[in-house]
Amino acid sequence: MRPLLIRGARQVLTLRGPAPRRGAQLNELEIIQDGSVLVVGDRIHSVGSSRRMENLKEARSAEVIDASGRVVLPGFVDSHTHLVFPAARLDDFERRIDGAGYQEIAQQGGGIYSTVRALRQMSPRRLEMIALRWLRLFASCGTTTVEGKSGYGLNPAAELKILRVMKKINGWPIQVIPTFLGAHVPAPEFEGAPEEYVDRLVEELLPVVRRRRLAEFCDVFCDVGAFTLDQTRRILLAARALGLSLKVHAEQWTRRGATRLAVELGAVSVDHLEKLEGEDLRILAESNTIATLLPGSVFHLGSDQYAPARRLIQQGAAVALATDFNPGTSPTLNMQMILALACTQMKMTPAEAISAATINGAAALRRAPEIGSLEPGKYADLAILEVGDYREIAYYFGMNLVRMTLRRGQVVWPAAAEETER
Ligand code: NIG
Ligand code: FE
Repeated sequence: MRPLLIRGARQVLTLRGPAPRRGAQLNELEIIQDGSVLVVGDRIHSVGSSRRMENLKEARSAEVIDASGRVVLPGFVDSHTHLVFPAARLDDFERRIDGAGYQEIAQQGGGIYSTVRALRQMSPRRLEMIALRWLRLFASCGTTTVEGKSGYGLNPAAELKILRVMKKINGWPIQVIPTFLGAHVPAPEFEGAPEEYVDRLVEELLPVVRRRRLAEFCDVFCDVGAFTLDQTRRILLAARALGLSLKVHAEQWTRRGATRLAVELGAVSVDHLEKLEGEDLRILAESNTIATLLPGSVFHLGSDQYAPARRLIQQGAAVALATDFNPGTSPTLNMQMILALACTQMKMTPAEAISAATINGAAALRRAPEIGSLEPGKYADLAILEVGDYREIAYYFGMNLVRMTLRRGQVVWPAAAEETER
């Protein structure tokens, strides 16, 4: 394979430096004006000013991609998605427009349980086709790695079905990192007996998931209608003992203390945090646990209570941003929209938002040594955007400004003709 030279970008956002970025470091994008990126094989060979790069030996034989006037940045790392689901929940959507609440809809047979019913009935092949279509759209929006959670199966067969689908589609065209979320909500079969469901999870399902290496992370939804703090602790301890890394859906609807628990157990990230308050902020900010904020779900549910991003950053937290792509609360896979929300609603700066969506997303997946910044030796995962100043990425909203996405040195978007026909 010939080397590849991405040449003449108005700005190359390298994101070189500390990972994760915390507090004031989030503003440091390490920009090269009029920069180029040289890719050899699937890795970044070097990054620098176009003048210097053109003189490199490898650059002389390279195939050239013209990035003049544009911004080049690391591919977005979307560290929180519920990637595999059967369908949109349009009735819930209309009911909410009509004034019903998320919890109310769930009690009336909508919500997560309706997605679970549909998923259990769907063939793996069909789920795979749907998820593959999403992966191509992720790539078109500049995302090169996604985390994907199970959690719409809630019985062994259906949970394993989701995890196997993710394993199968990994790399088509982008990377998928699997998380076991069997503890999304208690399975419907265990209504009134959630402890028994937790027993099953801990004693049966988690060990199987681990043994078959179907997940890297274990996540628990700790909230009303989901799991209590004690149940969350039990599940996370069991997962940790098996060697899985931990994530928690924390303080989304109610403040339950899941953040403190996550920090205490050394979780890689705590996600949501709309109801995070007081001491918890400081405890999180001073820990190594990443605060993953998901403004898409707040927006889609029509709430105005976003997570306290500014206070977290002021106290020195490592903040990441993700889509939470799912059919109930956040039907978007476009990280550019998430950046717009982060800036307009949570008052993050465009630079902070970009750090949170790249290098800190990578750290939230324990992948910072290989992705999330444009540094020699890392995978050549990057996006070329149709803008000349990185701030435009968060300024324009509801648009797709991505001109080209590369993963591991290969152009994955725009897709080759035979790909789009599939
Ligand atoms: O992250 N918080 C729980 N889970 C999802 C919503 C899932 C659904 O409604 O289908 C979330 O917001
Ligand atoms: Fe979620």
